[in-house]
Amino acid sequence: MRKAILAAGLTLALGVPALAQDNEAFVEARGAQMSANGAAAGAAGGMLKGEIPYNAAVAKAALATLDATARTFGLMFPEGATSDEAAPDIWSDRAGFDAEIVKFQEASAAAVEASGKDGPADLDAFKAAAQPVLGTCKSCHEKYRLDD
Ligand code: HEC
Repeated sequence: MRKAILAAGLTLALGVPALAQDNEAFVEARGAQMSANGAAAGAAGGMLKGEIPYNAAVAKAALATLDATARTFGLMFPEGATSDEAAPDIWSDRAGFDAEIVKFQEASAAAVEASGKDGPADLDAFKAAAQPVLGTCKSCHEKYRLDD
């Protein structure tokens, strides 16, 4: 799934002529990305709240998932690919939406960087790495996701 999304992202980034744009496919692809985000945030939140014992490998995987979404999510909103959940402001205020994407990308890239080869050393290190990323969810959803 992630490979397919990356390939779609690459096609867009390289400007390779695509077949007729399938808006429904964009909506589905970004929904899957956000569901992966939700799963990663769930694992992260479980550890942060002490409901799941801290595990560096789980922490590292969660941060990597968030980072993968951050890199390509912004490519899933071409003109016309609207949905019930996506605020019209994504298209009418594209600069504002792109700024939220950049915040998400910067936070998740920094978190991956900080987590090193084996994942954050302990829960405190994970908290410091993950919290700025999790803060970007709310910030973007408040402005650009309708049912929040
Ligand atoms: C840059 C903006 C942005 C950021 C950052 C962001 N989201 Fe979202 N999220 C959206 C939008 C827009 C939608 C609605 C998508 C649609 O219409 O396809 C959404 C939808 C969702 C959904 C519902 C998916 C579905 O299938 O309906 C979940 C779950 C979610 N986000 C979780 C998260 C989590 C967790 C984070 C942070 C780690 C996050 N999001 C960060 C913009 C964002």
